[in-house]
Amino acid sequence: MLPVLFLVSGLVQFVAAKDVYLYWNVTWVTAAPDGFERPVIGINGQWPCPQIDVTVGDRLIVDVENGLGNQSTAIHWHGFHQRMSGTMDGASWVTQCPVAPGQVIRYDFKVDQAGTYWYHSHHMGQYPDGLRGALIVHEPTPHLQYDDEFTITLSDWYHQEMPELLDYYLSAENFANTGGEEPIPDSVLINDATNPIFKVQPNKTYLVHIICIGNWPGHGFLFDEHEMTVVEIDGVFVDPYPVGSRHVRVATGQRMSVLIRTKPDASRNYAFWDTVDINMMFFYQNKVPPPDYNPNATAWLVYDETKPLPPPPIIHEFDFVDDLEFLPADHEPLLEPVNHQIILNTTPSSSNGVLRYTINDQIYLPPQVPSLYTALTVCPKELRSDPRIYGNVNPYVINYGDVVEIVINNYHGNLHPWHLHGHQFQVLQRTDVNGGYFEGYFQNVSATPMRRDTIMVQNYGHTVIRFRADNPGVWLLHCHIEWHTESGLIATIIEAPDHLEELVRPRDHLRVCGAYPAPTSGNAAGNVGLNLEGLNDVVVPGDSGATYPTPVYT
Ligand code: C2O
Repeated sequence: MLPVLFLVSGLVQFVAAKDVYLYWNVTWVTAAPDGFERPVIGINGQWPCPQIDVTVGDRLIVDVENGLGNQSTAIHWHGFHQRMSGTMDGASWVTQCPVAPGQVIRYDFKVDQAGTYWYHSHHMGQYPDGLRGALIVHEPTPHLQYDDEFTITLSDWYHQEMPELLDYYLSAENFANTGGEEPIPDSVLINDATNPIFKVQPNKTYLVHIICIGNWPGHGFLFDEHEMTVVEIDGVFVDPYPVGSRHVRVATGQRMSVLIRTKPDASRNYAFWDTVDINMMFFYQNKVPPPDYNPNATAWLVYDETKPLPPPPIIHEFDFVDDLEFLPADHEPLLEPVNHQIILNTTPSSSNGVLRYTINDQIYLPPQVPSLYTALTVCPKELRSDPRIYGNVNPYVINYGDVVEIVINNYHGNLHPWHLHGHQFQVLQRTDVNGGYFEGYFQNVSATPMRRDTIMVQNYGHTVIRFRADNPGVWLLHCHIEWHTESGLIATIIEAPDHLEELVRPRDHLRVCGAYPAPTSGNAAGNVGLNLEGLNDVVVPGDSGATYPTPVYT
């Protein structure tokens, strides 16, 4: 037997990098994941949306046709750095124009990082209506030992559609009555379903990819009587971390891979239990959940389909692992010295009677020209390093090669999962709740800090992250809660503007702008130089902007 096994593993090692081509028609589909039927956004008539599996070295090409009819779209590949392919990042008004109904856009990029990622609409708070899925990147030769793998996605879920919910959330009425409270989710989904099962075999090791594809609260989860060993967070392999009797959690946008070992026999099945952070939804504003509110969801590890599905364990208290304890497997040393420090003071505020977050007292509003196109085309060229040309996008310009330190001070009574496009950052410090704002001091910074691409920042506390500016592009840094993204909790990092000429510049993306229609050159207002006349600078109450105003049929 042995020679055969060697031959098989030899084959696996030499599988050549390949082109993975997908054609996606994005349309409305009807689904009832929690028993309530509603329109959801699916791909090629299917919902939940498909998982993508690729291998490091592949080239991923996805043609996305917008078949929605009434909404524009854009697809982001969450966690992908898009080295020299920043035009493929998929954030509308940042790296591309929205794709109008009837239009097709091509995303085409090299896959050069392994681990657990996901894709989602990055346009107008759209993905919680269903346009989201897992994106798993395999190593050509896995460095971990396991027999099989599967994916678990976790999400909050709403019965109403996002444009309707956002119109309410961003209304003057909501701000006047509640100070801008977020809509409460109706249920919790696992793999965009209720009560799914994962078939397993005894005596095996499984690599489980866990992705929070939700809109708002974070999730805590566990496998009954199966210990998890964390091996990856947000695409960063970490030294194996046995969770033991403690607990782990993922915030919106975060991922985690864990190894579990199945039992020696198939004598029973076991629950997988997930709960959302009701603290984030109720207690932070001194509210209690309605008596029948269910913040939990259950799935099962099924060893034997003829056996019952037992109820989940009852957990009275969580003892969460602090994600700063994870150690990147490459032991990358602390980045220093810092060449550029950016301090972001983030505060809930209002504009024109509507809830609006501010960063250093400025609100975010999308520009008329996608920020990357402004950087690529503004005239005269030197202006691309001048933050003023980018308009109200909270722009921060950083230079090639700089070690950048970003401090996020959270002047709000709730948690925010901050996500940076284009990088995995080192996390030097993250305070507890009420931990106060950064005063220039660190406590026990690791010589090899934890790295990830999304970090939860606690109420009235702060976090400090670092990364090297080695990836020219325009990258969003934002709270991944779609309510907050849509109320402007966003900064824009203009990275290495002098190196942007090297980026791939796809022609069809310009055609997409023409069809929207939106301008593709000039400053944020589409003008020359510093003339920002006509710049979008008014918050319109109750306007989610999600519905495409005048459908274009081609
Ligand atoms: Cu998961 Cu700005 O995105």
